[in-house]
Amino acid sequence: MELKPISKIAILASGRGSNFEAIAKAVATGDLPAEIVLVASDKQEAPVLEKAKAKGLQTLIQKDQGLLLEALKNAQVDYVVLAGYMRILPKNFIAAFADPRGFSRIVNIHPSLLPAFPGLDSYKKAFESGVKLSGVTVHFVDAGMDTGPICAQASFVISDCKTLEEVEARGHAIEHELYAKTLNWILRNEFKINERGGRLHVQPY
Ligand code: GRF
Repeated sequence: MELKPISKIAILASGRGSNFEAIAKAVATGDLPAEIVLVASDKQEAPVLEKAKAKGLQTLIQKDQGLLLEALKNAQVDYVVLAGYMRILPKNFIAAFADPRGFSRIVNIHPSLLPAFPGLDSYKKAFESGVKLSGVTVHFVDAGMDTGPICAQASFVISDCKTLEEVEARGHAIEHELYAKTLNWILRNEFKINERGGRLHVQPY
């Protein structure tokens, strides 16, 4: 893949936007070699949109994923960054960002140590299941539900947490750090891909 000094990224989010803010901060401080060309949401009332506007960024409300894909193509986006985007992307959308190395240039952050607790409410599921560790995963997106190649993971202890809110607060702090750090080496193309057990393994240098 051609290495660009500054990658064009679009952020898709449906909610609060704390991961968006962490990424925007990393861009502003020069810690992430990216330009945020679009912040798009499927939800008109998503707080992330106001946060993006306040930073002078281009925003889009679009429920139709075909039209969203057109907008991303028009903006010549290199990487799509999902930050709490609560929709499954169709196959043709994922294919539009196919990297020749076999993964999609669509990145997601998921609030569990995948493959444990995919889907919704992952911190809640971890808290209620009695596991001692929870965690966060950054992965490339494929057509499955939180099943794409894993880029990075970080774990944290939850055995002493008395409430779900405590788990979430710990998790979000880890998410913000891990996402910016992982996107940094992804955008710099500082990783290699191996195949093991029939799956792609992503390894940063
Ligand atoms: C985060 O927990 C993220 O891991 C998940 O959705 C949540 C989004 O939170 N995919 P925010 O909107 O970034 O604050």
